[in-house]
Amino acid sequence: MKISVVGCGYLGAVHAAAMADLGHDVVGIDVDQAKIDALAAGRAPFFEPGLPEILTSASASGRLSFSSDIVAASEATVHFIAVGTPQKPGSYSADMTYVDAALEALLPILKPGDLVVGKSTVPVGTASRLAERVREVQPAARLAWNPEFLREGFAVQDTIAPDRLVYGVASEADDAAASKAQLDEVYAKALSEGTPLVVTDYATAELVKVSANAFLATKISFINAIAEIAEVTGANITELADAIGFDARIGRRFLNAGVGFGGGCLPKDIRAFGARAEELGRGESLAFLKEVDAINLRRRQRVVDLVVEMLGQHAFEKRVAVLGLAFKPDSDDIRDSPALDVAVQLNGLGALVSATDPEAIANARAKHPQLHFVTAVEDAVRDAEIVVLLTEWTQYRALRPADIESLVSGKRIIDGRNVLDAAEWKAAGWDYRGMGRP
Ligand code: UGA
Repeated sequence: MKISVVGCGYLGAVHAAAMADLGHDVVGIDVDQAKIDALAAGRAPFFEPGLPEILTSASASGRLSFSSDIVAASEATVHFIAVGTPQKPGSYSADMTYVDAALEALLPILKPGDLVVGKSTVPVGTASRLAERVREVQPAARLAWNPEFLREGFAVQDTIAPDRLVYGVASEADDAAASKAQLDEVYAKALSEGTPLVVTDYATAELVKVSANAFLATKISFINAIAEIAEVTGANITELADAIGFDARIGRRFLNAGVGFGGGCLPKDIRAFGARAEELGRGESLAFLKEVDAINLRRRQRVVDLVVEMLGQHAFEKRVAVLGLAFKPDSDDIRDSPALDVAVQLNGLGALVSATDPEAIANARAKHPQLHFVTAVEDAVRDAEIVVLLTEWTQYRALRPADIESLVSGKRIIDGRNVLDAAEWKAAGWDYRGMGRP
């Protein structure tokens, strides 16, 4: 199929490259010329495992191109909208400027039979509003909503082999059948492999996406709330999560207590969902998401308080090593990152923070140039009075006391992701503190 993807960020760039990898002819469109130049040269503008490989192979096949000019999308018949919906400044709602601009840019090039497919995470009601706009300008074109569930760090595999597909289509039967047929062709490979498909209306498709993220955020805040109770009772949150996780109805995944969730999705999505519920007169239905958010933000404060406590109530001019800046491992994304937030707060208390991360230093430095960044763990921990692990990169999980104890000036460590062997660190004479661990 001939496909265009409008928006080449974490979602769109991966989607464009993955669709070309599957054999479609794809053009990626973005207003950011630097991003387009990088992608056109086969360079991923952000860190995502597997993306450089499929960018290179798809570009070499001639099936993938990039442009900042929407006219390059004229020959495509399926047009994905994959732009961001960040939190609006000064509000909890989603900023729809980029989605609206993407649609307005597409409208003049739409041909009869073309399908516009929304992938961005949007407030419920958006798809029917945009479908109306499409009908006004090109009555023979259609719109579908096809939410994306990819995880950063696994984005390529999640796009090529998703765990489910959801199509939100128009209520008119002919329109719905034609949209489904086009999307079935786009996703022919995944469907032939038995990927579950839910075909539904616009509102359900939009709500599926935000409900999934709200559920995941709630699961993480649930275990973090119990971690707060574990902290005052001497219980062990990791053993507790293992034990409740054996119940298949609960499940062990997303029950890792720690410094909490961040990123460009979960935090802003639960806020936008709550704001939308209020607009719909159902604010009380999602009021609990405010607690989910508050629990999550308290975990960052908990780490900052622990650092201060372990340093004898004074962080001022104390050397603190921060391991991890990205919101999660295998990503250079620092949007709403708990790790970066903690580093910034400690710096604000006058601590001498040396922060490191395998991939996220450039992004972190651009946003917080006041922090001191080093590339090697050895340099981060040198003379540190306390080490704070905040993003569970494989290399940090593998740290052993002997790797760093000759370098630090104080054997204190906070395991903000509960990934180290507490007994081993304690046996080596370290003051070890986990999150919700005795
Ligand atoms: C999330 C969803 O998992 C995807 O399904 C969704 O498509 C995506 O948002 C999106 O809306 O685009 P992502 O933001 O890549 O994906 O990250 P997650 O893997 O969900 O992790 C989010 C945060 O939760 C990270 O900061 C992670 O460290 C934290 N987390 C995760 C925990 O604190 N504990 C856990 O047990 C699991």
